[in-house]
Amino acid sequence: MFSKPLHFALLLAGLIVVAGCEKSPPPNFRFNSVEWLKQERLHLSGDDKFDEGYKQEIGSILTTLFGTPDEPKFPYLLGEDDPAHDVIGLDNLKLAAGAVKSGIEGEHQGLYREHCAHCHGVTGDGAGPTAEVLNPYPRDFRLSKYKFKSTPLRQPPTDHDLMTILENGIPGTAMPSFRTLPKEELQALVEYVKYLTIRGQYERYLISEIANLDGGSIIDLSLKSETKDGEKPSDDDVEEFEDQMYTFIGEGLQEGIIPRWLKPDRKVSKVPPAPEMFDLAHASHEDFVLQGRELFFSKGNCMQCHGQTGAGDGQLGNFDDWTNDWIKTANVDPFDPETYADFIAVGALPPRPIMPRNLHLPVYRGGDHPDDIYLRVANGIEGTPMPASSALTSDEIWKIVAYVKSLPFENLSDRVELPVNDEAISNR
Ligand code: HEC
Ligand code: HEC
Repeated sequence: MFSKPLHFALLLAGLIVVAGCEKSPPPNFRFNSVEWLKQERLHLSGDDKFDEGYKQEIGSILTTLFGTPDEPKFPYLLGEDDPAHDVIGLDNLKLAAGAVKSGIEGEHQGLYREHCAHCHGVTGDGAGPTAEVLNPYPRDFRLSKYKFKSTPLRQPPTDHDLMTILENGIPGTAMPSFRTLPKEELQALVEYVKYLTIRGQYERYLISEIANLDGGSIIDLSLKSETKDGEKPSDDDVEEFEDQMYTFIGEGLQEGIIPRWLKPDRKVSKVPPAPEMFDLAHASHEDFVLQGRELFFSKGNCMQCHGQTGAGDGQLGNFDDWTNDWIKTANVDPFDPETYADFIAVGALPPRPIMPRNLHLPVYRGGDHPDDIYLRVANGIEGTPMPASSALTSDEIWKIVAYVKSLPFENLSDRVELPVNDEAISNR
């Protein structure tokens, strides 16, 4: 899909322009220093550090491909026919990016900075000025993980999923609803979120590759430049340059990261229709709920985290993937601030355990429609300990959903504790 001559022709011009152009307009995208420090810890010993020069190289590659917060670009390396146009449109990026202002025809620009950046950060690193006081923290898009979506784990959300998040917000968290914005503005924001996600994921990829470079350049521009005396670069140098481009832009981005977002490849989970007994008015509804309750405590294993009473007091002390991403590094103890002070110093947010939900509160972050809860139980919640329920049939999931929906109305004094089925737990 990605041909060498094309990426070469398209990118060369850009890289050289950027290499010669030192000034970059504020505000800048913030470098992922947490990933950098993590990779140093993973690959170097003692106080050894990566060569700081790589930061500039990575910055230069990213600016060439993705532009700046004021002037975004997108690497449509396959030209006009690049299917990435379906994922992200440049006009939409421009509407969402930049400083807040109104255009000649009254259209608003700078939507992301107006509505999102104070929480999610200009870079989409989830570390905007208000982030630290929020629980849960705003999402760091760069890990490319989304919680509330119609697609299975490890698949990106659809535009419709992201649009739903923007329209409804995430109840019970600081993430507000943007329902009052015009649809075109919401679509521009959806595409800008994908842009920050892809850019951030690619930056993580580049940083993670440093350890494999053995001191060489990521993409060595000098290989392709004429010498001071105007001598042309040798064929070997050009070939080496093309290989570097292929590895880091072709394999890394154009084959590895962007295709995940292409529409034809996207799998959306179907929610089977709820059985008749799910209906509150059905004569056997009560029985259906009780069967769900039984499953919640046995085969479903929900009480392991949500607790014996469903109040969210089961297994505690877990962290989400955004935190696990760096606290799993050697010598970091998330319960001892001294062990991770250097991560905080470069921009990590203090680790906070993720709580299983108290299911007696009728607040569902991913939506309270039965189909939404079905999807949460069937697919799990990406980036959190909440697992997918691959061992349950759809009928069993519906029973559990009926029980979950009944929990906020459960009369606590009537509850009979069910025995915990240890066998079911150890079989999971
Ligand atoms: C007041 C703070 C705040 C603002 C403003 C805000 N968000 Fe969020 N956002 C959050 C928080 C907090 C979460 C994480 C909620 C969670 O993990 O359950 C979040 C999560 C998200 C998610 C992830 C949803 C998922 O399924 O994982 C997306 C996408 C998102 N926000 C986009 C936006 C966009 C786009 C804007 C601007 C139009 C915006 N947010 C404005 C706080 C905010
Ligand atoms: C390993 C721990 C774990 C297990 C097992 C588990 N959950 Fe969860 N669950 C969580 C965590 C953590 C969250 C909070 C995720 C978040 O929103 O950040 C959660 C959230 C939820 C939510 C809230 C969804 C929303 O939209 O807000 C529901 C409903 C839920 N779980 C039901 C279940 C059911 C039913 C089962 C059993 C089939 C189950 N859970 C098993 C950890 C678990």
